[in-house]
Amino acid sequence: MKDLVSASLLGCDLADLKNEIESIEKAGADWLHCDVMDGVFVNNISFGTPVLKCVKKAAGIPLDTHLMITDPIRYIDDYAELGSDMITFHLEAASDPQAVIDKIHAHGKSAGISIKPGTPVSAVKPYLESVDMVLVMTVEPGFGGQKFNPDTLEKISEIRYLLDSMGRPQVDIEVDGGINGQTVKLCREAGANVFVSGTYIFGVEDRKAAVKSLK
Ligand code: DX5
Ligand code: ZN
Repeated sequence: MKDLVSASLLGCDLADLKNEIESIEKAGADWLHCDVMDGVFVNNISFGTPVLKCVKKAAGIPLDTHLMITDPIRYIDDYAELGSDMITFHLEAASDPQAVIDKIHAHGKSAGISIKPGTPVSAVKPYLESVDMVLVMTVEPGFGGQKFNPDTLEKISEIRYLLDSMGRPQVDIEVDGGINGQTVKLCREAGANVFVSGTYIFGVEDRKAAVKSLK
C-alpha cells in the first residue's frame, strides 16, 4: 500500500493559487485535496466548480475532491467533468450512498466515502465492497487548523481490518484534519495511507521538509 500526501488547498494563499500549487508539487505532494463546502452540510463556504476548473489547469498532480455538500449526487457530473481524479462525498449527506458511488464510477473516477468523527464504522460497512477510498475525518469537517481527535484511530483500525478481511487491501484509507509530523504516525499505525494536510505543510517556510516528514 502506497503512502501518499494530499495537500489541502484550504491551507494555502488562495490569492496566489497557481504559485501555491506549483510550490506544493515541487515540495513532493502527491495529490491536491480540494475542500468543497456548501455552508449547509458544514458551517463554512469555501470554493466550487469555477475555482476547481482553474486548479485543474494549473495542476500537474491528481485532484482529490472532498465534497462537504448536501445531496452530493446533484454535483457529481460537474466535479467529474472538470477533471477530479477522485471524488469523495459524505455518507451523512447522501440519501442513497450506493447511487453516488455508482455515479462516480460511471464517470471512470475513483469513489471515496467519508465519515465524520461521530459516525460509526457500521454505517460505512455496506459500502466497503464498492469504494476505492474511505476518508475518516479526524476533526469535525468545515475548517482547517483544528486539533486532531485521537478517538478516530480506533475507527481507522477497524476499517482496515474489515477491508483486509473482505479481500480488499488495496482500498485507500485517507485521514483529514490536524495531520502533522506526530499525528501522521498514529494514523499510519492504525492503517491509514493517505494523509491530508493543510496548515502543517502550507504554514511553514520549508514545505519540502514538511511533506517529507509526513512521508
Ligand atoms: C476540513 C477539511 C480539511 C482541512 C485540513 O474540513 O476537510 O481538508 O483543510 O486542514 P488542516 O490540515 O489544517 O487540519
Ligand atoms: Zn478535506
